[in-house]
Amino acid sequence: MCGIIGYLGKRSPKDILIEGLKKLEYRGYDSAGIALKNENKIQIIKSVGKIKYLEEKIEKEKLIDSHIGIAHTRWATHGEPNLENAHPHKIGRITLVHNGIIENATILKEKLEKEGIKFHSSTDTEVIAALIDHYYNNSIEEAITKSIKELKGSYALAIISEEEDSLYAIRCESPLILGIGEKEYYVTSDIGAIINQTRKYVLLGENEIVKITKDGYKITKDGKKVERKVEESTLKEEESGLLGYEHYMMKEIMEEPILVENIIKKYKDNLDKLPDISKYKSIHIVGCGSAYYAAEVGKYLFEDDGIKVEVEVASEYRYRNIIYEDNTLVILISQSGETADTIAAMRKANENKIDTLAIVNVETSTIARECTYKLLIEAGREVAVATTKAYILQVLFLSLLSYKVHQDDKYMKDLLSLPQQLKVLLDKSGFYKKLADAIYKNEDVYFIGRRIDYAISEEGSLKLKEVSYIHSDSYQAGELKHGTISLINDGTIVFAIVTDEVTKDKTISNLEEVISRGAIPIYVGTDDCNYKNKIIIPKVHKKLQPILVVPTLQMIAYYVAYKRGLEIDKPRNLAKSVTVE
Ligand code: F6R
Repeated sequence: MCGIIGYLGKRSPKDILIEGLKKLEYRGYDSAGIALKNENKIQIIKSVGKIKYLEEKIEKEKLIDSHIGIAHTRWATHGEPNLENAHPHKIGRITLVHNGIIENATILKEKLEKEGIKFHSSTDTEVIAALIDHYYNNSIEEAITKSIKELKGSYALAIISEEEDSLYAIRCESPLILGIGEKEYYVTSDIGAIINQTRKYVLLGENEIVKITKDGYKITKDGKKVERKVEESTLKEEESGLLGYEHYMMKEIMEEPILVENIIKKYKDNLDKLPDISKYKSIHIVGCGSAYYAAEVGKYLFEDDGIKVEVEVASEYRYRNIIYEDNTLVILISQSGETADTIAAMRKANENKIDTLAIVNVETSTIARECTYKLLIEAGREVAVATTKAYILQVLFLSLLSYKVHQDDKYMKDLLSLPQQLKVLLDKSGFYKKLADAIYKNEDVYFIGRRIDYAISEEGSLKLKEVSYIHSDSYQAGELKHGTISLINDGTIVFAIVTDEVTKDKTISNLEEVISRGAIPIYVGTDDCNYKNKIIIPKVHKKLQPILVVPTLQMIAYYVAYKRGLEIDKPRNLAKSVTVE
């Protein structure tokens, strides 16, 4: 998704902006650009494709002497990824960059065109610039306030004008923070973009306008001053480097043992730091993509604890007519804490006065701020678009919540051994590479499992398809013969996840059914077996088992994508944080 960085201070902004853009690359983008301001001139440089092309273009230009600048990575929503549509956009005296979507852009554009305004792109962003310029008489602040009253949708904006030595920013349903250095200021959609510069930041509330000048900053809303606390980020700087790995996806999988260990150390003797979910009559767990598949794991864990659970993808949950029972808890799972649908699901529960609990990674995110309770999974920055370590920690937190309800010694013993077991499993990279060799030329791969093994197979299948572009689906093993089995052919790869004691024999029978129709089985289970392709996973407490199985499937997905020569960290069409509906 799009990314924003802006700077005002003593230094020339170019290097700070480019470094910031590079930190935002992981979010997915298709064009990039910067705008620099000096006394009365704005210089805009944009390019399609990678930031390195923008850098090459900047090198060829004579840059104006400047202390104020804004920059952007664009992930196309309105209009194709071309130079005209890349940000920044300038209309009249206003230049800005924008994250989000303006839903009524077409109507506003028609209205402004009738007033003689000429647009140069197909973006909704230009409409915002035109609107602010239209309302701009003496004060940009006033013009922004008037303009946003006409906007429907989401926006995070960094705004400059040749007429003022100021940088303005505002957000609504899209993240944006103010970073504070020594007489230097930053605005960014992602704290990771400025962490090398400063750790101090201020969270901007919805529709609060920050005006930054060399003398400081002022936050206002509807013309009234707003006070906001300066906070300090705990994000570690070294988390943003590859540290010798070829890809972030692999680096992040390899971080799983230590991250799991850190959380275990923090909570094993401090269960009181975790909410007691048993006091709720009913629990809903909501998320998107992998976070939803983590929620599915939670369903099986909590149900076994005797708690009524409903699990739903956020994009559906937000539009359902949910009849909330008294004493319901809604758990929102999100790595970024900025996924638009998950935010909407959270707000729906909040509006219904239902307790909400966020299991979230980004401490500054909307979900972390607006939930009743939050648990930070402390995964550090996740750069690869496909989530790996965050999913594992989300599941670990669900497992700990479940353990708090029913505590037993075997769980604690297995919990303590988990980091080491995980490390041993991840050390076998040669083994996963070999398995990847057997798969990477296939065009169809299926994953089957029952109960919690089905939840695991959903994540295994998603991981494989998103990074390798191989078509893959997951099925409840018992459901296959009600239709899908017709797709099984000579050589079709079928992964069977077989860890659940209650259903393992049934899943094996289903696996045999597909083998007899030509499928090549890959067995992933806790008991040894005679299948040629197999991943044997150490048996641990059932509430911890997914934490040992899923990393092996992540490794296979990685190596399959590697063998296919793909851009593993930034798969096509995907974005790290889906801030639009
Ligand atoms: C898959 C993946 C996505 C995210 C989903 C939710 O590898 O990364 O499916 O899990 O977009 O994102 P968050 O967790 O940020 O809400």
